[in-house]
Amino acid sequence: MFSDLSILPPDPILGLGQLYKQDPNPNKINLSVGVYQNPEGITPIFAAVKQAEQQMLAAQNTKTYIAQQGDDAFLAGMATLLLGDALVAELGDRAGGVMTPGGCGALRMSAELLIDSGKSKTVWASDPTWANHFPLLQSAGLELKTYRYYDAETKGVDFQGMVDALSQIPEGDTVLLHACCHNPTGANLTKVQWDEVIGILAQRRLLPFIDIAYQGFGDSLDDDAYGIREAVKRLPEVLIAASCSKNFGLYRERTGAILVVSDTVETTKAALSHVMGAARKSYSIAPYHGGGIVGTILSDAGLTEMWKTELEQVRLRMKSLRQQLCDGLNTAQSQQNFDFVGKSGGMFCYLGISQAQILKLRADYGIYLLDSSRINIAGLSEVNLPVIIDAVAKTMES
Ligand code: LMR
Repeated sequence: MFSDLSILPPDPILGLGQLYKQDPNPNKINLSVGVYQNPEGITPIFAAVKQAEQQMLAAQNTKTYIAQQGDDAFLAGMATLLLGDALVAELGDRAGGVMTPGGCGALRMSAELLIDSGKSKTVWASDPTWANHFPLLQSAGLELKTYRYYDAETKGVDFQGMVDALSQIPEGDTVLLHACCHNPTGANLTKVQWDEVIGILAQRRLLPFIDIAYQGFGDSLDDDAYGIREAVKRLPEVLIAASCSKNFGLYRERTGAILVVSDTVETTKAALSHVMGAARKSYSIAPYHGGGIVGTILSDAGLTEMWKTELEQVRLRMKSLRQQLCDGLNTAQSQQNFDFVGKSGGMFCYLGISQAQILKLRADYGIYLLDSSRINIAGLSEVNLPVIIDAVAKTMES
């Protein structure tokens, strides 16, 4: 049965993490996969998560199945986090969610929903986008195309290019957007730009499919959801895929959600039934553990405050590391102006260096960044920053 199979090429993100693990260099530095590390180089468990987990386990007296839709406290908490109190109250059951295994599960089940709708199978993604968007959505049967987004010259958003591209997308297609902290570029839309994008979506009757994997890593929990909330206010249907991997630090627990907002309760209920139907045909019901923790946090005011405080510390530390990298690179070399690093936001940015330089950093210094030159800002630390700045500068000047 399997004898004709050849080994697949490694995943461009997770595969590099494996390569890093195998590197015997004692000074190696991992800037590949998007995982937060504290000053000691450890990916810590949020104290609020640890406390919620203990409470949850102490109160748990059964391991029977949860509802197909997922844990109620989790779904209510996620809706509030994504939409804010006022919209949740206003929308009632026109907004509804399903718990999923991570953000990937949310994206994949969203793809199944789009296929089930029987409408256009074309989804437009930013150029570039997260490396897994294409395989993940295409394997469900969607056709992926790209709209212009990043300008390699200015190293920021090519907003006019984006507007022109969106204005030509055929009516009824779906547009995949990063709510905040664009992965991989770190180049983000301003609020004014979001308003304009939403206007085009409304005019051309395009469905926004918004991936939110870094809420709270950009400007704030509320600011990072601006695009989602405005889209929900102004458009008849919005599809949201959310991940709790980063902002709750629940990477391995595979915790995420789909949120569907439509103009009628019936439409939302029907869409959610298709998501649950698709899940049943795949993994059946999402795992409970991570969602249980998030639900415990978000239904307890004290734990929510504790989590928000920790998340804000993480956000501010990433922002400071980003600025230190920007300043350090500008001082240490004369080939390129790195102001764009400081201006971008979230967990990632492109360094904008050549393929040869990326490979040299890996071979000579054990510094791992993606082939696209994406670096994980959260992998920087007060200890490794001087080493990275020196290595990048030497590589660029050589
Ligand atoms: C990343 O982009 O590094 C993260 O989202 C992790 C992943 O699954 O790719």
